[in-house]
Amino acid sequence: GAPVTVDISKIESGQKVTYPWRGLPVFVVYRTQAQLDALPSQDSRLVDAKSNQGSAEQQPAYAQNANRSIKPQWLVLVGLCTHLGCVPDFVPVMKPEPFDPDWKGGFYCPCHKSRYDMAGRVYAGVPAPKNLLVPPYHFVDDTHIQIG
Ligand code: FES
Repeated sequence: GAPVTVDISKIESGQKVTYPWRGLPVFVVYRTQAQLDALPSQDSRLVDAKSNQGSAEQQPAYAQNANRSIKPQWLVLVGLCTHLGCVPDFVPVMKPEPFDPDWKGGFYCPCHKSRYDMAGRVYAGVPAPKNLLVPPYHFVDDTHIQIG
């Protein structure tokens, strides 16, 4: 499949936009500072907080960090649940009722209730086995990302 270049200049802080790439939905999220600040508070509840398990297939080396991204605010993920491949909902609120009060929001899979944080890291105790995949991508310039 060919790489896809997307214009991120119109994405607002806190917003998620989905782009097709190789027939897959790719989520691009412009995370707020509050969402980034909340990430470390989730670590103890995660299956793979440091995204070490199967790291080579789960994310490129340049996204192997606490934010799982090249630029902290810009999250790029393949939007397919690692359980059975449903498309998770974006749940950007910090206290998403009626879910676990410790969850600071992120992604929720409606098929079997898996939850992920705002870096796509999977919560313990849900069926999804792995963090959401980070596809290969890079910044062409400040307002364009090439996926693939
Ligand atoms: Fe997402 Fe099963 S496909 S929890």
